[in-house]
Amino acid sequence: MKFLVTGGAGFIGSAFVRMLLDSPAAWSGPAAQRPTVVANFDKLTYAGNLENLAPVAEDARYRFVHGDICDAALVNQTIAETAPDVIVNFAAESHVDRSILSPAPVFETNLRGTFTLLEAARTHKTPRFLHVSTDEVYGSIPEPHDADENYPLRASSPYSASKAGSDLLALSYFVTYGMPVTVTRASNNYGPYQFPEKLIPLMISNAIEDKALPIYGDGMQVRDWLYVDDHCRAILSVIERGRAGEIYNIGGSRALPNLEVVERILDAVGKPRSLMQTVKDRPGHDRRYALSTEKLMRETGWQAQMPFEAGLRATIDWYRGNAAWIARVKSGEYQNYYQRNYANRAM
Ligand code: NAD
Ligand code: TYD
Repeated sequence: MKFLVTGGAGFIGSAFVRMLLDSPAAWSGPAAQRPTVVANFDKLTYAGNLENLAPVAEDARYRFVHGDICDAALVNQTIAETAPDVIVNFAAESHVDRSILSPAPVFETNLRGTFTLLEAARTHKTPRFLHVSTDEVYGSIPEPHDADENYPLRASSPYSASKAGSDLLALSYFVTYGMPVTVTRASNNYGPYQFPEKLIPLMISNAIEDKALPIYGDGMQVRDWLYVDDHCRAILSVIERGRAGEIYNIGGSRALPNLEVVERILDAVGKPRSLMQTVKDRPGHDRRYALSTEKLMRETGWQAQMPFEAGLRATIDWYRGNAAWIARVKSGEYQNYYQRNYANRAM
């Protein structure tokens, strides 16, 4: 089976590419569907990092295309040359705080980029298109509900609005053109190689460096944590057994308040809780995400395998063992971002 993965140099996309190429056991489907080609189409924004793919870079089945999903000519050429059996669209501007600071690239990539890919897939009659999305499209979910796939869309940030828009675009191609599109909506991912702008890697790397750990507001916002490899296995399950035109939620079934996550990190790294610093809250901050993953489990048999404690331990071990990776991604542009996002937040 030939895969075209967009955004494969990012956190989740690179885990997916590594899983496809590096871990045959991950592929539980028919032998005929094993990956024969994995093309990674990525713009290499601040979040894209080819180091994440070092373990598979020499694999004969892997190829890299440096490009923007908004570039229709290159997207069409790549699809024509690769003739993928499936396109998996991870490429996105993926961070809420950056989307608040600079919304334009978020709408450009997440909406126009998705549209460009869908059009090209329609032209080339690509047999399968999986659009990777997020639980954030449902907005904040009041207790005691867990959002299922029919929960109303109520996006709060430019990021989540752009993802909700791209989900609707993707699904409209199924309804209007009969294109075999499926949308997955995952909860908060964590694991190795995550860019240290998101909660868990930021807190781990700040703790390692004895820097302050910035807690937005009261820290009692709840997120449902999903280990990145569990997410990637869920995507494979949907490719194997999911239905076109459908949405599948992918949750970790481990909802925790941020404060508890950060305290666990400090304890595991062996640093004092006094490193936590309350800062001004994020505008439009969603209080709680909680997903029902019942449909995915029923239709595909997928289950999360990584308990949060073991996943967090593995993640902390990875960041401790990869100081050079962290130092490189935290140099340059990251410092400007950190300044812009955190400088005027002290309480
Ligand atoms: P990431 O920011 O780590 O990586 C994004 C990748 O997309 C990078 O390699 C970047 O270079 C690439 N990219 C960005 N704009 C591009 C463009 N115009 N053309 C081509 N490539 C481009 O993101 P991630 O955390 O790996 O998220 C991947 C996907 O999963 C996103 O669609 C995101 O919305 C979704 N998602 C993420 C989470 C999470 O917790 N991180 C949860 C649910 C869903
Ligand atoms: P984040 O990792 O940005 O993911 P998302 O906003 O997409 O859920 O943030 C997770 C939670 O952690 C969210 O409630 C915001 C909070 N947070 C902080 O308290 N401090 C921080 O420095 C960051 C980055 C996030």
